[in-house]
Amino acid sequence: MASLRILLTPGDGIGPEVMEEALKSLARIEALYNHEFQYETEIIGGAAIDKYGTALRPETLTAAKSSAAVLFGAVGGPKWDDPAAKVRPEQAILGMRKGLGLFANIRPVRIHPLMIDDSTLKPEVLEGTDMVVIRELTGGIYFGKPQKRWTTSRGRRAVDTMRYSETEVRRILQVGFEMARQRRKKLTSVDKANILDTSRMWREIATEMAADYPDVELEHILVDAAAMHLIRRPSSFDVIVTENLFGDILTDEAAMLPGSMGMMPSASLGKRRKDGTGIGLYEPIHGTAPDITGQDKANPLAMILSAAMMLRLSLGMESEAQSLEKAVDAVIADGYRTPDIAGKDSTPVGTTKMGDLVAERVAR
Ligand code: IPM
Ligand code: MG
Repeated sequence: MASLRILLTPGDGIGPEVMEEALKSLARIEALYNHEFQYETEIIGGAAIDKYGTALRPETLTAAKSSAAVLFGAVGGPKWDDPAAKVRPEQAILGMRKGLGLFANIRPVRIHPLMIDDSTLKPEVLEGTDMVVIRELTGGIYFGKPQKRWTTSRGRRAVDTMRYSETEVRRILQVGFEMARQRRKKLTSVDKANILDTSRMWREIATEMAADYPDVELEHILVDAAAMHLIRRPSSFDVIVTENLFGDILTDEAAMLPGSMGMMPSASLGKRRKDGTGIGLYEPIHGTAPDITGQDKANPLAMILSAAMMLRLSLGMESEAQSLEKAVDAVIADGYRTPDIAGKDSTPVGTTKMGDLVAERVAR
C-alpha cells in the first residue's frame, strides 16, 4: 500500500480556491473509505517569489519527493509576468517535473454528452470524442542546452535546443503503447519528421517498438496536420503521444474541444512501481485565471478530477477515484454549472457551491 502523504501546492490565482473545493471531496473519501490522508502544504510560484525570492524552494522539492503525490493548483500571474525576470512562477512547475522525474504528462479529453452543445465546434464533429494525449514532459526544447541569448555586432541572437535521447523517447512511447492497449488500441505518434532529426529518430523508434505491440495500430502524423485533424475529426483519436513542445500546444487546442478548460485534469507521472502506482503531480490545466481570482467564479471540477486521477494513479484507489468522477458526473447531470460552462437550462453556481455539490454526491 502506497503511503498517504500528499503535498498540496495551491499556488497563485484561482489555484488556492479550487484546491479548497477538491479537499472537501477528498475529506468525504476519507470518511467513506476509512483513509487518513497526510497533508502538507507548500507555497510555490509567484507567492513563493514574494515570500522567499524563489518559485520553488529546495525544501518544497524534498517534501514532494517523500510524498506519494503532489496536488498542484496553478502558478503565475500579471504581477510576475516579466519574461526577462530571473525568477518566474513557471519555474515551480518545471522544477517539479524535472526534480521528480515526471516524464509523462497525461491529459484525457472527453466530452460530457450533456455539454456537447457548449463547445465552439459542431456537436456532430465532437460526438464520441474520447482521447488521451500523452506529452513528453522532461526533455526536448524545454530543457535542451544551449539555451541562451547574446548580442553580436549585427544584433541580438538567441538559441534553444531540441534534444532527445533514445531512452527518453522509448519510455514515453512505451506509456503510449501501453495506454492504447488498455483502450481502443490506436496510437497516434505526432512529430515533425519532415524537418527535425529528433522527430526522425522518434518515428524510427516508434516504428521499431510497434513490433512488440502487434495488437496496437500505430499511425504517424506530422504536428501541423495533427493540429488540423484535432478539430476536424477529434473522435478518430484514441491515444496521442508526442514530444514536449508539440504536446504543450496540442493539449491547449484539445482542451478547447469540450468548450472549457475548467473540466480538464492532468497527471504527470514518473517511473511506476510493479503495481502500476508511483509518484505523480496532479493539476488542472486551466492555470491561474487572474481575471476571475477571488470572485467565486472558478470551476473547481478540473481540480477535483485531477484529485481523482491522483487517487487512481498514485494511491492505487480505483474505487475511490470512480466515486469522485461519478460525483462530478452527477453534478453535471443535475444541471449545475459554473460561469465557464454555463449552458441553457442550467443552474448557475459559484466555486464554493460547486465544491459542496460534488462533495455531497461522493458516495461509496
Ligand atoms: C502547461 C503550461 C506549462 C508548460 C507552463 C506553465 C510552464 O503551459 O503545463 O502546459 O509550458 O508546460
Ligand atoms: Mg501549456
